[in-house]
Amino acid sequence: MCGIIGYVGNENAVPIIVDGLKKLEYRGYDSAGIAVYGESGLFDVVKQKGRLAALEDKLSGFAVKGIMGIGHTRWATHGEPSDANSHPHLGTGGKIAVVHNGIIENYKQLKEYLLKKGICFASQTDSEVIAQLAEYYYNGDIMETIIKVANRLEGSYALGIMCTDDPDRLIAIKKDNPLIIGVSEHGSFIASDVPAVLKHTNRVYYLGDKEIAVLKKDSVSFYNIDREPIEKTLERITWSAGSAEKGGYEHFMLKEIMEQPKVLRDTIASALNSGENKTVIDKLEIERYNKIVITACGSAYNAGFAAKYIFERLCRFPSVEVELASEFRYKDAVIDSKTLVILISQSGETADTIAAMREAKSKGSDTLSIVNVVGSTIAKEADYCLFTAAGPEIAVATTKAFSTQLVLLYILAIRFAARLGRITPEYERELSHQITTLPDKAAQILEQIDFIQKYASESVGSKSIFFIGRNIDYAIALEGSLKLKEISYIHSEAYAGGELKHGTISLIEEETLVVALSNCPSLYGKIMSNIEQVISRGAKVLMIGNQPKIKSDGKLSHIPLPEICELFSPSLSVIVMQLFSYYTAANKGLDIDKPRNLAKSVTVE
Ligand code: G6P
Repeated sequence: MCGIIGYVGNENAVPIIVDGLKKLEYRGYDSAGIAVYGESGLFDVVKQKGRLAALEDKLSGFAVKGIMGIGHTRWATHGEPSDANSHPHLGTGGKIAVVHNGIIENYKQLKEYLLKKGICFASQTDSEVIAQLAEYYYNGDIMETIIKVANRLEGSYALGIMCTDDPDRLIAIKKDNPLIIGVSEHGSFIASDVPAVLKHTNRVYYLGDKEIAVLKKDSVSFYNIDREPIEKTLERITWSAGSAEKGGYEHFMLKEIMEQPKVLRDTIASALNSGENKTVIDKLEIERYNKIVITACGSAYNAGFAAKYIFERLCRFPSVEVELASEFRYKDAVIDSKTLVILISQSGETADTIAAMREAKSKGSDTLSIVNVVGSTIAKEADYCLFTAAGPEIAVATTKAFSTQLVLLYILAIRFAARLGRITPEYERELSHQITTLPDKAAQILEQIDFIQKYASESVGSKSIFFIGRNIDYAIALEGSLKLKEISYIHSEAYAGGELKHGTISLIEEETLVVALSNCPSLYGKIMSNIEQVISRGAKVLMIGNQPKIKSDGKLSHIPLPEICELFSPSLSVIVMQLFSYYTAANKGLDIDKPRNLAKSVTVE
């Protein structure tokens, strides 16, 4: 959580930093701030509680200008959202300015230590101790000071640091939180994520843990924590600057939903017949494992949960477990070198998923990650990595990254099943062919959004919306329900159809909306019974699926899906549910891309 950016160069840092913060706002948005090294030889600092727009308003009243600066967008962990708790933080003497992403676990001890030395604090944050400690240690050598500070910090951090004695040097260091260093014709950047700098450059370095970057307007040098120079590789990002813009859509979420046919096509191409993902999949020796554990958080967990059904059905694998990464990391899991642990993460930086990966490795398991962000911690540390070709995903609620995770999992399951001899080569070809039809079928759904839009407008007043399904439909119902609640703030639960009668059915009242998924031919009759049970208790039902011969009538509305093998149907039903959630939230006039209390990249526990 929290996004940081910094710039040193020939241009005015203020608009560059504000624009970069806009691309990082998905990481946190309860306050924002900027510090610029100004002509006075001091830092000009402007901080504002609320969205970035509020900071922009405030900035318009100040003549802040400078060629070096740092900025921050916050997701509060220590101390409420307020102007004072916003970053950047300065030492009491105003000599050193710091922006921080992460959590300093020993901040209380450090604060007590500094308070005893008579240092006064201006905020309730853990981050301020970094600036205060740096200023306390400062002896005229900022590098030495930063190393000394870093050696005392426990926890996670990505830091951008400026010192008034070094008006042309911006310094960065990180541990367990991401930081990229960008280089352009007009200056150098630090940022929490690539989209923040894409407008200026696609050439970046990925900073490693306890590595220090010293940025000048026309050069960047790197050091280890012992201050020895190190070499790093400059990487070229393939994402275009436009891919991080809204491109005419009102929200990133809608743009990202609409991009799904393309990103599905790209991801399938990279994994099915040729491409880097295919090479990795071919290297995996599934015969070596007797257990698969899939672990992830949020929607990525839901993708894993759906995959469990597919791995079991196709591979007949003895043990496929799906675990929330936050639980897996602490449960002393029964895994060993015969376990393949699959980590799924859009950002590749989710703290719990990173910890789960490290736990798996420490127990000798092989780790395979499915990640969207190249250069991220999980992508780098996992033994094997498959990349989703989703491009930058900015909306907090994931859509296209989720869909690309699903197709990689399908392809993985098909390959494993074939290698294990559990499916015939003909069936493998048939399933692979079905996957190649998904992008066009996704596009067909996107061409018919009117009905979904209309239905969503009628659901705006709902107190609670339930999602039901059986088997793979149940798995994807979990994602539909999560999507709805995170952006529309309508209470929602997903239930296995057969489980309704054990409790949840007592919540069904006159006009309660139930979304029922029906894509499993052998269970059409069963889900219909569940639908009748809730309708007879007053519910109205929206059925999504390719069950034939169903007509919308009275309390039952039906959105048919293009025909597809039931195992891959989640890829189609999820698009309908994404659109349903989007339009429900849009009708409520909510801030869809940045729902309250959430952040996209959850880099704290
Ligand atoms: C947050 C996001 C979700 C995402 C989850 C895991 O909650 O809002 O969309 O699924 O984190 O993030 P990851 O980057 O690991 O996929």
